Amino acid sequence: MKHSVDYFFSRRNFLKTGWGALGGLAGSLLASSAWAQALGMKTPRQTLGPFFPDEGDEVHEIRENLDFRLPISEANDNDLTHIKGHEGTAEGQVIHLEGKVLFRWQGDAKPQPGAVIILWNAAASGRYNHRGDREATRFRHPETGQWVERTHDEHFQYWGRCITDQEGRYSFKTVVPGFYPVDIENGWFRPPHLHFMVTAPGIPQLVTQLYFKGEAVPNNAFIQKLNARDLILRDPALTREQQDSLIVEYRPSEKDPGVLIGNYDFMLSF
Ligand SMILES: [Fe+2]
Repeated sequence: MKHSVDYFFSRRNFLKTGWGALGGLAGSLLASSAWAQALGMKTPRQTLGPFFPDEGDEVHEIRENLDFRLPISEANDNDLTHIKGHEGTAEGQVIHLEGKVLFRWQGDAKPQPGAVIILWNAAASGRYNHRGDREATRFRHPETGQWVERTHDEHFQYWGRCITDQEGRYSFKTVVPGFYPVDIENGWFRPPHLHFMVTAPGIPQLVTQLYFKGEAVPNNAFIQKLNARDLILRDPALTREQQDSLIVEYRPSEKDPGVLIGNYDFMLSF
């Protein structure tokens, strides 16, 4: 699968490291998003990528809100596991992600009410609902050698919107997306990730991606190997601490059996 030009980084270090050498590296992901948040770290930026939900680009139009003044990226609710009017629900491990949007200016971080957050992610199969996502829809798993099919999930909402409340809080319900190949020849597979665009008046827009970890996350060990070598998460312009701050830990929910919960505060700043 080819990605747009902004996906390309120097591959030198990436190619020097084989799959076998990565176990230790994955195990050393000690710094966490919680730690970064305790330090008040600004949320690092990550590339928009080629699959932002766009009018005209989608494969299956999903528009829950029929107010056509809304761009399609903002026309759905914050529950990506269910499309209004569908009886079925999305395939995959259900997660809740919740937290706040904060804005730091001259010292203090303050909750940001009314911030618009757009979330878009691949289905559990690793497929986006986007016309541009049509290469390598079938590929061999780099560890097991088994064929992986990136199929469309007709009950997955693919993107959603949440507007922060008076305390700056937001929440999303979605599924852990599948990993997917970018450059099979060189062994580059994107780890499961969620894409975000956060917009609030008078503040520079934030575009980023969040990643996964946690014992309860399906295939966590494999995901950590992908996290360790992903050319976007491991953007050389970010410090190791900044990179690791984008990996959110998910734990089983006590309230909702079978659901995993993650917490992340977006820290906006100039
Ligand atoms: Fe992506």
